[in-house]
Amino acid sequence: MKHIEHIGIAVKNLDDANKLYAKLFGKPSYKTEVVESENVKTSFFKVGNNKIELLEAMEEDSIIARFIQKKGEGIHHIAFEVENINEEIKRLKYEGFVVLSDVPKKGADNKLVVFLHPISTNGVLIELCQEII
Ligand code: CO
Repeated sequence: MKHIEHIGIAVKNLDDANKLYAKLFGKPSYKTEVVESENVKTSFFKVGNNKIELLEAMEEDSIIARFIQKKGEGIHHIAFEVENINEEIKRLKYEGFVVLSDVPKKGADNKLVVFLHPISTNGVLIELCQEII
């Protein structure tokens, strides 16, 4: 793995959270994007070299809606940039991690993404992502 690509935060209302985080960081979100594969609306902020992704559910039974019902708003996942996502899926499965899909999906911000189940990573949902070239 190369580095932390972004940290994902689950929010109830993206417009409200965008305003709040713009105030916090002193600059607006640089991008808002709907991710059909996950049924979420996202927005991104840059803070130095780091990115923060805000996620709002678009449907009541989507992953983000269920997360907020269970745990409330807050940090949802940590995403790591990888060189070759298919190789990493194979490697991590071999190492015994629960990878949620054998095939990466198109995620937000022009990335291929896959998630590791928190059951195999001390309760932390981990996203692997690779830039689509
Ligand atoms: Co993410």
